[in-house]
Amino acid sequence: MTIVQVQNLHKSYGSHHVLRGIDFKANAGEIIGVIGKNGAGKSTFLEVIMTVKSFDEGDVQLFGQSIQEASGLQLKALRQRISAILQPTQFYKSLKVEELLHLFRAYYQSDVKVEQLIADFSLASHRKTYFDKLSGGWKQKVSLAIAFLAKPKLLILDEPTTGLDPHMRQMLWSYIQHYNQKTGGTVILTTHSMDEIERFCDKVMLIEKGRVKQFDTVVRLLASGYASMNDYYLQNVPHEEDAS
Ligand SMILES: Nc1ncnc2c1ncn2[C@@H]1O[C@H](COP(=O)(O)OP(=O)(O)OP(=O)(O)O)[C@@H](O)[C@H]1O
Ligand SMILES: [Mg+2]
Repeated sequence: MTIVQVQNLHKSYGSHHVLRGIDFKANAGEIIGVIGKNGAGKSTFLEVIMTVKSFDEGDVQLFGQSIQEASGLQLKALRQRISAILQPTQFYKSLKVEELLHLFRAYYQSDVKVEQLIADFSLASHRKTYFDKLSGGWKQKVSLAIAFLAKPKLLILDEPTTGLDPHMRQMLWSYIQHYNQKTGGTVILTTHSMDEIERFCDKVMLIEKGRVKQFDTVVRLLASGYASMNDYYLQNVPHEEDAS
């Protein structure tokens, strides 16, 4: 089953043409990594498929439904099947970790137990800490716990492990893999860690200046003569001073 299908996607910010004809497809159960230099257009791409950013040209289908043609109600239904790490708003500030989890559990009408989530994500030591008093890595961890609460069919993560220490990174990936294997959920993420692409992703899409330079399975890319995904990246992505 196709979860996301993107054809000839174009997006500009004013006169800056950022996405220049992206074709992309995610099947159910795949973990897909989106890679490319700073400014390549990765976050913009994720925001378009999360339906939080508009686009100028092309077609985006989620769960077989074209988002341009979807009514307000249909869009709402689509969004309910997607979870993403969102930027925490002011709203988070005034709440403790466990309060946030209870609140989002009610919002998503989730049957995931808050205590289970606290145990799985090792949140116990900070359950009574106000969200805005947490360190960056901890904020990320709590945001992820919230994303998993919704039991999404599609999980979109923009650099989920940036700034996390090795234990947290390991824990996060084991949670993503568990979610993927247990529920068959699809994951689309960006990362600058080629090690994570190699270890955890089924497929990788390399974006260069808003175009798809390569979209293939990690196994096939490695078999085409690279010692590692890091090696692949270094040989295929030019290093220029001006990144965007
Ligand atoms: N809201 C915006 N308004 C104007 N330009 C933007 C906006 N958001 C992003 N851009 C520009 O679009 C280009 C692509 O940005 P984007 O954030 O998608 O890149 P990225 O691949 O996610 O980079 P990074 O690896 O640094 O996260 C960049 O040149 C950026 O400056
Ligand atoms: Mg980005």
